[in-house]
Amino acid sequence: MKTENTVWHPQHINKIQRSQQKQQQPCLLWFTGLSGSGKSTIANAVDALLFARGCHTYLLDGDNVRHGLNGDLGFSDKERIENIRRISEVGKLFVDAGLIVSTAFISPFASDRTIARNKLAQNEFIEVFIDTPIEICEQRDPKGLYKKARSGEITDFTGIDSVYDVPENAEIHIHTANLSIEQSAQQIIDYLIQHHFISAKE
Ligand code: ADX
Repeated sequence: MKTENTVWHPQHINKIQRSQQKQQQPCLLWFTGLSGSGKSTIANAVDALLFARGCHTYLLDGDNVRHGLNGDLGFSDKERIENIRRISEVGKLFVDAGLIVSTAFISPFASDRTIARNKLAQNEFIEVFIDTPIEICEQRDPKGLYKKARSGEITDFTGIDSVYDVPENAEIHIHTANLSIEQSAQQIIDYLIQHHFISAKE
């Protein structure tokens, strides 16, 4: 717990030095979208493209982080809020370390995404809306969870009996229905080039 007896200790090496050493502009690509929308798949494709360019990256993925750091959290509103709070803090630390970080979490509540955004500098937070209609997510149902949610076997399922606030001002909006995984990933790389996070070179 933060108390009056915990005092921030200044560090010798700062974010600018760390990112200069890596010769890159750190940022946080915040993927949001329904379960089965393709967040993890597209985030992985972007991560691989950045890695191939020599960028120092890291990917925090919802299902994976829920195996460790957030293994104590379920899917009630309160637990999702805590899930996203922790991830935004971890994402911020990775950005502070000079990395290009991707997070792939449903992050259903707009208020939590705003809180995450406000933890970072203005140009460091890039919201990526993976916009896949729920009908398509449900058709794909890669983990069989929509079927379980419809039958009542699991509750509080996003899009069924738990809300998803559609992003209104995402920096990047990916309409997956018309795009391949490669095209979706390239749209994000193009954004990073246009906004000078990475250079245009291959
Ligand atoms: S978030 O809402 O707190 O951001 P997060 O991205 O970490 O969710 O986890 C979502 C993943 O957990 C889904 O892709 C799915 O595999 C799994 N899952 C299990 N139960 C649920 C549920 N009730 N609602 C949504 N996803 C669930």
